[in-house]
Amino acid sequence: MPIIGPYIVGGDKEAQSMMREFLIYNRNRSDKEKCDACIVQYLILAVMLLVIVFLFSVFQFWAYVFGIANPILPAYFPLDAVPSRLPYSSKSSQAAECQQRVVGYYTEFESIDITCSQLNHVTHAVFANVEMNSDGNLRFKTRKAKERFMSLRRKSRQVESKPELMISIGGEENSQYFASFTNESYKRRIFVNSIYLFIKYYGIDGVDFYWKRAKESDKINYLLLLKEVREKLETMGTFTISVTIPAAGIENWEASYDLNQMLEYVDFINVFSMDYYGPWENQYGTPAGPTAPLYYGVGARKNFNVDSTMNYYVCNTQKPEKFNIVIPFFARLWKNVGDVVEVGKEAYRNVELKNDKAEGKPYMSRWTVQHDQWDLSNSTWDEPSKTSYIYDKEKEVYMSFETQQSIKAKMDYVKEKNLGGVWIWSLEMDDNENSLLNVVSSNKHCFSKRNESIAYKC
Ligand SMILES: *[C@@H]1O[C@H](CO)[C@@H](O)[C@H](O)[C@H]1NC(C)=O
Ligand SMILES: *[C@@H]1O[C@H](CO)[C@@H](O)[C@H](O)[C@H]1NC(C)=O
Ligand SMILES: *[C@@H]1O[C@H](CO)[C@@H](O)[C@H](O)[C@H]1NC(C)=O
Repeated sequence: MPIIGPYIVGGDKEAQSMMREFLIYNRNRSDKEKCDACIVQYLILAVMLLVIVFLFSVFQFWAYVFGIANPILPAYFPLDAVPSRLPYSSKSSQAAECQQRVVGYYTEFESIDITCSQLNHVTHAVFANVEMNSDGNLRFKTRKAKERFMSLRRKSRQVESKPELMISIGGEENSQYFASFTNESYKRRIFVNSIYLFIKYYGIDGVDFYWKRAKESDKINYLLLLKEVREKLETMGTFTISVTIPAAGIENWEASYDLNQMLEYVDFINVFSMDYYGPWENQYGTPAGPTAPLYYGVGARKNFNVDSTMNYYVCNTQKPEKFNIVIPFFARLWKNVGDVVEVGKEAYRNVELKNDKAEGKPYMSRWTVQHDQWDLSNSTWDEPSKTSYIYDKEKEVYMSFETQQSIKAKMDYVKEKNLGGVWIWSLEMDDNENSLLNVVSSNKHCFSKRNESIAYKC
């Protein structure tokens, strides 16, 4: 019988000719029969692939729903540079000694990098914001955002003051998915797990929520979210949870929050006690006035000040030590500014709207102020609101900003009212010398035990 392969060597003519025939036969066969075989093979392969993809996605989904830390994809945030684990800091030693909070926000979008000397002044450093997606997962908005976060993260662990490092979720531009990701329990679980994984993965100390424009119908769902985040994080250790809530007495925004219940789950609350006046792109762009007046208001805006807002929140909770008021580090500019709104109230002035919009710049960092060649050194003090401003009659411009005097007034207010502290929007908007942050620090009132009595007439 013929021998195939390397065994056919010379001699056996018969075998050689059989082999040739076999090879020719095989070549002719291949075109049709082989191809029938391979279509079937491809089909089988495709079905197997589909099954694998299906099983994988089912696994992914339930892993999230049941909060199993997913071993295949640790998280839905960028994995290009896997960070080394950081030790969880114990509660900030500075906060513990001083009992007064200085919560410094740091944005993902500004250009100036955070410095260690800035971090040394704060008890909490909050990165704003980590983006929430339509699928309930967290991720950095841009590559730059991630780099800024990583820089903050690294430096926050280098400084002596040991600030707690937190992220903030929500805000003006990213609150649109809160409602749909809190109204059903399996979706809440997806969102909560995403937060848990982020905190665990980056080794940070906590999370802040700023669900802007929450509705009254969201009240219960917001509470459930906070409760479930608290429970989930407790499985891992002690973490800080805060919320940021709007000013009270303006458009009844406060009705969307059950504060007393919230305080069961959060460590503290940042009150957005600013933006009472701003060069907005609507009819509310006028009048020009202080960004964060401590007291006072004109016309229908009698309650548009820090004190009215805090009076409401403290009286409703009886827990002043849980609240921080804001110190805006930005300057705010209006153009086309004219007469006073009320005789003798120089700090409140009518603005001529163009196409129903005010013109100006609502958030100018100190770098922008310098770059646009504004000199803030000659400001005017408004005693009723305890704020500083510049009004230039010839150029018809008005600028509201914090000074040494206005920051001191706010720090004294925190002490007088036994509030928990302040939060800063935002650290990198200060000048290179940290002029504003230094005033915050040097007017901090340290004590070993909080005074919890109510200093408001309720
Ligand atoms: C939850 O919210 C989404 C989006 O707002 C809505 O489509 C859905 O019907 C809501 N589910 C429940 C149970 O209310
Ligand atoms: C400072 O401001 C006041 C009031 O706006 C003005 O009269 C004065 O000329 C200014 N001084 C300087 C040095 O610019
Ligand atoms: C606590 O605060 C209240 C109200 O401001 C004040 O009257 C009281 O003297 C304070 N107590 C201490 C020990 O500072």
